[in-house]
Amino acid sequence: MSMLEKHKKLERNVLLLLAFSILVVLIGGLVEIVPLFRTSTVIEPVKGVRPYTPLELTGFNIYIREGCYVCHSQQIRPLRDEVARYGHYSLAAESMYDHPFQWGSKRTGPDLARVGGKYSDDWHVAHMKNPRQVVPESIMPSYSFLSERGIDLNHIDSAMKSLRVTGVPYTDEMIENAEKDALNQATGEERGNTDGLYARYSGAAARDFDGNPNMISEMDALIAYLQVLGTMVDFKAAENVEGGPQ
Ligand code: HEC
Repeated sequence: MSMLEKHKKLERNVLLLLAFSILVVLIGGLVEIVPLFRTSTVIEPVKGVRPYTPLELTGFNIYIREGCYVCHSQQIRPLRDEVARYGHYSLAAESMYDHPFQWGSKRTGPDLARVGGKYSDDWHVAHMKNPRQVVPESIMPSYSFLSERGIDLNHIDSAMKSLRVTGVPYTDEMIENAEKDALNQATGEERGNTDGLYARYSGAAARDFDGNPNMISEMDALIAYLQVLGTMVDFKAAENVEGGPQ
């Protein structure tokens, strides 16, 4: 039987044609989709991007718990107006350690991908306690209770271990020191011992984020997280390097 004869058989039998079509689509799908499951083949690593410190990670978890993503996105699109308003468009590598990612799908409030360093800690405390105090027309809810709640570090090491399974490069040393690093970061350089923290997380900032030295609160964690957003990649330095982000 010639090749054409064989194909005639296939084309004239609806069920056979369907079965073979499905088979072909399946193979195509596997070839396209399977390689994407390996982050290393999809995302170009970018200098400066590191996993969150335990305190920032606690803040990230509070951000999710409080549903901040319902009103805020964390993804600056490569469009002129967005870049003019928020800064350099987001790189895939900047959210490669976010599980789950916080790109969001709706902006009731502004994008937060580069909010780090835009305001002082005091501004954030005032804003989180009562947004209307600093932005009179704001419709953002108040989160003042975060100042009164101490951070829960009981499960921070298991949270880091689970993230490691998904590919976040937390080392054994980072996991062992998780609680200590979180406390030292929120206490700050003057009173805490931040050497280990700085060695493990380059560029981490340690200070009393909420301005209350008597307590390490959820406010400390959330502001530590907000202040690091979008600050890990040094775009000014990268602009002068060939092959760096443009
Ligand atoms: C109901 C929607 C809503 C929710 C929920 C919400 N926000 Fe907002 N947020 C806004 C709006 C609107 C603004 C703009 C007005 C303002 O600055 O208050 C804003 C502004 C901000 C800003 C200032 C951004 C800038 O560049 O000026 C930050 C930071 C922020 N929100 C953080 C948070 C965090 C953290 C949470 C969760 C704890 C949160 N928001 C939850 C609506 C929301």
